[in-house]
Amino acid sequence: MFQKNVALKTFNTFGIDAYASEFFAFQTTDELVKALKEGKNSELLILGGGSNLLLTQNFEGLVLKNEFKGIELIKETSDHFWVEVQAGENWHQFVLTAIENGWAGVENLSLIPGTVGAAPMQNIGAYGVEVEQVFDHLTAVEIETGKTHQFTHADCQFGYRESVFKKELKSKFIITSVTLRLNKTPEFNTSYGAIQDTLNEMGVKEPNIKAVSDAVIAIRQSKLPDPKEIGNAGSFFKNPTIDKLDYEGLRAEFPSIPGYQLPENKVKVPAAWLIEQAGWKGKTFGNIGVHKNQPLVLVNYGGGEGAKIRDLAFEIKASVAATFGIELNPEVNII
Ligand code: FAD
Ligand code: EPU
Repeated sequence: MFQKNVALKTFNTFGIDAYASEFFAFQTTDELVKALKEGKNSELLILGGGSNLLLTQNFEGLVLKNEFKGIELIKETSDHFWVEVQAGENWHQFVLTAIENGWAGVENLSLIPGTVGAAPMQNIGAYGVEVEQVFDHLTAVEIETGKTHQFTHADCQFGYRESVFKKELKSKFIITSVTLRLNKTPEFNTSYGAIQDTLNEMGVKEPNIKAVSDAVIAIRQSKLPDPKEIGNAGSFFKNPTIDKLDYEGLRAEFPSIPGYQLPENKVKVPAAWLIEQAGWKGKTFGNIGVHKNQPLVLVNYGGGEGAKIRDLAFEIKASVAATFGIELNPEVNII
């Protein structure tokens, strides 16, 4: 049954106090297809854990909240496990289940908030790993027809915080399950950031997937604000990629500018550095602001308005463009 005039505050990690005119939580494909028929003329918002969106106003339409549950080992070979996960499962709880079962490959993606269904949307990534590395296929219901389709890895067109579902197929499909191909023999990726140092501090001599997950959790907890305490949606912007020549030019002017070499003469520059240098780190404006430890994270200290956070993001974007000539693009979905 559709609920009317539902408060969304507890359904978004920014903690924005907005309302949806209609709301429906679905647990099966049949329920979803029925809701799509009933809500045919409404604007739709597909909601997972609400950890990558910013509500800038009340939502005058139908919010469909994904509560599909289930984790199933569907196939096994000498090297791999294929695990089908329903889209409404919590991502981090799934990672913990994987670790318990010895399914390797997602340990570096520990503690990322949100649902499994949203993970392929922006190809979630952290600590040197992206979900596309273990992705096999997904199923999704087409909004227009209610039909179920399957998408292979190639169909999804994954990139850095990108997939086909954010481009040509934006707002056309609802992901209902994701099948991952996990490894029997772990391939440890401990070179990124402080993972190795943290494992050393933990006294871990031979890495194992539980230890890597624990190290990632410890690092994340020390860097990122917990949405239960301070409203936020993780990195607000993506890290921009620029041409190597432009990077060299900037380095002549700003010798400390960090950059990570990519293929095709491109360089990725940390947005956090750009925002900090432009003077925004730790700034507060009433009950919203730029986090004091991680300036890529915009925060709501309580009672902040989504539209004000969006305006702050635009001001930051303009100031980074004016200082460095680099365009920042939001990672967060602005609704
Ligand atoms: P939502 O916020 O509910 O939705 C995000 C978008 O996907 C919306 O446009 C929504 O309409 C759409 N959507 C959701 N579910 C479906 C579905 N089943 N079918 C179709 N469309 C759907 N991200 C990273 O990549 N790496 C990180 O390290 C990381 N760290 C974070 C840390 C914090 C503290 C926070 C708050 C966020 C972080 N994020 C990170 C961002 C976020 O956790 C991910 O993007 C996550 O995948 C969002 O999942 P969700 O279920 O909350 O999606
Ligand atoms: N930096 C600063 N000042 C700061 C913090 C960072 O200058 O206060 C610079 C430093 O040069 C540092 C660099 O930024 O080396 C990178 O910082 P960090 O390692 O914290 O990572 P990030 O690039 O800010 C990205 C992802 C995170 C992901 C981490 C770990 C994006 C947009 N963000 O952050 O993902 O967890 O790496 O892999 O790619 C998210 O997407 O929501 C998210 C949190």
